[in-house]
Amino acid sequence: MNPYPDFLHVITLDQCDSTNNYVKANHENLKDRLPVLVISTLQTAGRGREKRNWLSSRGKGLYSSFGFNLENSQKLNFLPLIAGIIVIETLKKITGIEWGLKWPNDILYKNKKIAGVLIENIITASDIFCITGIGINLNHTAADFPGELQEKAISLKMITGLDTSAGQINPVLAALLFQWLEKLKSGATKEIIQTANRYSGFLQDKKISFHYPVDNKIISGIFKGINHDGGLLLENEQGSTAIYYSGEIV
Ligand code: BTN
Repeated sequence: MNPYPDFLHVITLDQCDSTNNYVKANHENLKDRLPVLVISTLQTAGRGREKRNWLSSRGKGLYSSFGFNLENSQKLNFLPLIAGIIVIETLKKITGIEWGLKWPNDILYKNKKIAGVLIENIITASDIFCITGIGINLNHTAADFPGELQEKAISLKMITGLDTSAGQINPVLAALLFQWLEKLKSGATKEIIQTANRYSGFLQDKKISFHYPVDNKIISGIFKGINHDGGLLLENEQGSTAIYYSGEIV
């Protein structure tokens, strides 16, 4: 039985440089077969946000990218939050464990990162094509992470002691992604924001540092949640609140 939604075109690769690159490079050919999910068992050049690498060895993690059209560019702000929400809900469904969302879409367990999302959009006059790449650390031991990541990263196996296959997780991710995209389509942005704020609750009113790429600055402030259209609310020392739509909490 096909574990995926019937309308989803699934491409399984033994290896590639990056599943996001694969979707991007094949965008023209895939146009008539959307939505698509590209899964790879390893990536030779996995990419993270802000030009970082994403550790992508065989059998250790999940490396998947969804490609789909969005009908309205105003909805783009909500996509990073939806991606974070579906990873949290998938991992919760499989393990029963609660996870934290660090705006916009890092997934944390006790302050260590287990999963991340890289969204890349191709916007033309005729359509908005979204590539949502998801990486989840599954079967790494602490020693599998290079020195600088050992303090910051964690895998499912390090938490549960169990091996997990990407094949168990991808169908759940897919089902949840299209459920949440339907909600977005129907205008349920309030539910998206409420859910993202609930998962980010552990940061509420905490002092954070934030990397703002527009002027490449680190800004400190108090996390005041996510606003009605997906922006990060940061209160400065003077007590006024600014909204940011790009960047990440560091
Ligand atoms: C981050 O937190 O920095 C984002 C990590 C995203 C990694 C995934 S793995 C599948 C897809 N292909 C890539 O090259 N990157 C994303």
